[in-house]
Order: sequence, then structure tokens, then C-alpha cells
Amino acid sequence: MLSKNVVITDEAAGKHVELPVIRGTEGEPTLDIKAVPSTLGYFTYDPGYAATASCTSEITFIDGNKGILRYRGYPIEQLAERSTFVEVAYLLLFGELPIEEQLNQFRDELTYHTMIHERLNHFISGFHYDAHPMAMMAGVVGSLAAFYHNRLDMENPEERVLSAKRMIAKMPTIAAACYRHHMGWPIAYPRNRLRFCERFLDMMFSVPSEQYMVSEVAARALDLLFILHADHEQNASTSTVRLVGSTGANPYACVAAGISALWGPAHGGANEAVLAMLDEIGSVGNVPHFIDRAKDKNDPFRLMGFGHRVYKNYDPRAAIIRQACYEVLDELGKDDPMMDLAMELERIALEDDFFVEKKLYPNVDFYSGIIYKALGIPVSMFTVMFAIARTVGWVSQWIEQSETPTKIGRPRQVYRGPQERKYKALHRRG
Ligand code: ACO
Repeated sequence: MLSKNVVITDEAAGKHVELPVIRGTEGEPTLDIKAVPSTLGYFTYDPGYAATASCTSEITFIDGNKGILRYRGYPIEQLAERSTFVEVAYLLLFGELPIEEQLNQFRDELTYHTMIHERLNHFISGFHYDAHPMAMMAGVVGSLAAFYHNRLDMENPEERVLSAKRMIAKMPTIAAACYRHHMGWPIAYPRNRLRFCERFLDMMFSVPSEQYMVSEVAARALDLLFILHADHEQNASTSTVRLVGSTGANPYACVAAGISALWGPAHGGANEAVLAMLDEIGSVGNVPHFIDRAKDKNDPFRLMGFGHRVYKNYDPRAAIIRQACYEVLDELGKDDPMMDLAMELERIALEDDFFVEKKLYPNVDFYSGIIYKALGIPVSMFTVMFAIARTVGWVSQWIEQSETPTKIGRPRQVYRGPQERKYKALHRRG
């Protein structure tokens, strides 16, 4: 793995350190800086971790300059075209595509764990009817630890995998229950004869008074979106899961923390924010005004669904979703003016020097909301959809971390507060 060292010299102090270069199977060479503080006496400063690899991983590879995304070596385009979400979940968790028998068994196991404890439904019904579903998800998933904590031996690989399967299986049930609570509908229990995405749509939209037929087109579109969202190496929510996991916390607590990180509009919350933005822009004629606002340093407005920390090229997931938008809208017989608006926004932005120079391209969230909307998923549930899919990545990364010797995540800081001073009695202050 180590090919050569890089020498860093502090001439003034007359010290130097040789830093090993770590090479992965692909991607940029990485300097191992662990020895810097002890030999040179410096810490390294990297706010936002833009220059830092926090772990080694064998799960997902991104080349942001070329717009490449691969799960366990398989290009996302091939998985999107030929695989299913459940198969991709198996691949991310276990490292290989399953043979038929393994896939059938895995599907059966996920199906077996779809139910949630009845008390959890009582917990959900305790939320106010208009609670944001992401707030409910973070609370309810965190509370799963209360149901399984004493039965989880995290040193046992089989129990780790069991908890991963439980979470992948229960997440759609919890998500649908949160939505139904908001709607005032009775809980819909999982129908295990249905497939993963069909079952989720059934739990979301079936009502006791009418027969609900799951649309095959909708289930397929959702499956595609779930594949594209399943993992994305060390993004903010996954890094959160790993950071919490590094303390030895249980996986339910780790995933609840991941859900909270995902909710932010700079991360998974962007899919909800994109729709709000398109709504605000209103019509194609207003696009130039909003492009100007996004370029104005004094205006906090940003083009939501644009830009990415790693991709300095078109996000390959956005390219797939954009194409799927046409097909899904066409197959469902829907015509959404938001699609025209989004495309015009993309066209103008991609011709604009500001966006070209900063390499700002549409990301995964730019078009996904248009499909969710066409499937009848309410805007407040968009980030929940992301969380259902990303659970697979979170638990795969958590398992990988659990199988690797890991130090507790504990960054340092550059302290800029007051130096030592004496405590003053209350009457002597001011
Ligand atoms: N609109 C306008 N300007 C932007 C945008 C945007 N969407 N994104 C970045 N920029 C500009 C910044 O103002 C900055 O300009 P400067 O160099 O003149 O200061 C430059 O591009 C670099 O931006 P940073 O915020 O420093 O880049 P960073 O890598 O830290 O952030 C992020 C990436 C958070 C995704 C950012 O592009 C953004 O806020 N995008 C909008 C929110 C969004 O779509 N998030 C979803 C990301 S995908 C995901 O998490 C699933």
C-alpha cells in the first residue's frame, strides 16, 4: 500500500518529518499526517475536512472530476439500469453481488423484519400532527435502541448484520407510519407479499375504505431513486454515523444521528429545498433574476440542488435522474411545469461564467423531487425518502468500521478565545 514518503521540513525549527503516502486501489494519493504533531509540534487545520480522508473504505468510490460513482466497483449507471435496490443493499453490505439463492434469502430476511413493535406506533402517535417527518424519524429510529439495546452484542458479527437488516427493513414502515400520523390515517401494516418499494407505497397510500393498487411504474421509479441514494462514501451524514459509531454507540443511535445530519438543507434536505426554490422562482422568465441572486455574495440565496463538495463535474446520479424524470412523467401521464423550469435553470446556470468557473453542476437532489412529486410523495417526506435509501449505506459503513480497528473520532481546534484570566466577583464586573 505505501509507495513513497513525502518530507515536510520546518526550516525555522530545523525539524523535518517523513510522511507515508497511502494509496488506495483508486483515487488520489493521501498523506498520512499522524506523525506531524509529535514530530513538528503542529496540528493540521482543515475546516469542513475538505482535504482529509477520515478512514479507509472498500465500499464506494467517487471520482469527482470525472463524475464517476461506483458501489463496490460497479458503475452506478449499470446498477441503475440492471439491478434492484434490494440487490444493491446486499452488494453494499456484503461486498459482492448475490447469487440467486443469497438474494432470495436476503429478501426473505428483510421481509421478516418489516414490522415494528406496536409500542413504537404509540410513540409515533404522541407527536403533534404537523411534526416534520424528519424530526419524527430521528426520534423514532433512535428509540429502536430501547427495544434492542440489551440484545445487541456489537462484538458479534452476526448480531451486527442482524441490526443492519432490521434497520433497512423497518425504515420504510416507520417512514410510512410518520406520514400516516400526519394525515390522520390508521397505521398500515407491511404487506409482506409485496416487494420492497411496492410495500412502501402500499403502506404510504392505501386506505381502509378503498382498494389500493400499487403502480408498477411508481415502484420502479422509487427503486431507481433508492439505488442512486444508497451510499456516497464519507458524506456528512455517513461521517456522522461513523463518528458516533467510533464511540461504541449502538447502531440505532448512529443511524438516528445520521438522519439528523441528513436533514440539513446543505445535505439531504436540499431535495425539499429545491422544490421550495422552484416554487419561489415560479416561471421561466424569473430564472435570470434568481441566477443573479445566487451569484451575489451579499445575498444568502444559493441554487439548491447545485454544487457538490466532491463532484466538480455533472453528478452522475443527477444525469440518471434527469433522464428518469422524462420517462416517469411520460409513463404516469403527468406534465409538470416544474420540469421545464428546472431544465431552464440548469441550462442558464451551466452557460454562466460564475457556475462554470466554480464547477457548479446539478447534484442528485436537483431532479429527484420532481419524480417524488409525480409519485404523490409530499414535499416534507422527500428527505425521508433519502434516509430510507441511505440507511443501507449508513449500516454498511457502520459494519465496515466495526470490523476495523478504530480510534474514537476526536478532532482538535485552533483556540481563539481569551487567554488565562482571573475570576471576578459579581459586584466587580462590568
Ligand atoms: N449556488 C451558488 N453558489 C454556490 C453554490 C450554489 N448552490 N454552491 C457553491 N457555491 C459557491 C460558493 O458561494 C463558493 O463561492 P466562493 O468560492 O466565491 O466563496 C463556492 O461556490 C464553493 O462553495 P462552498 O460552499 O465552499 O463549497 P462546499 O464544497 O463547501 O459546499 C455544497 C458544497 C454544500 C453542496 C454547496 O455547493 C451548496 O450549498 N449547494 C446547495 C445545497 C445543495 O444542493 N446541497 C446538496 C448537496 S448533495 C447531497 O448532500 C446529497
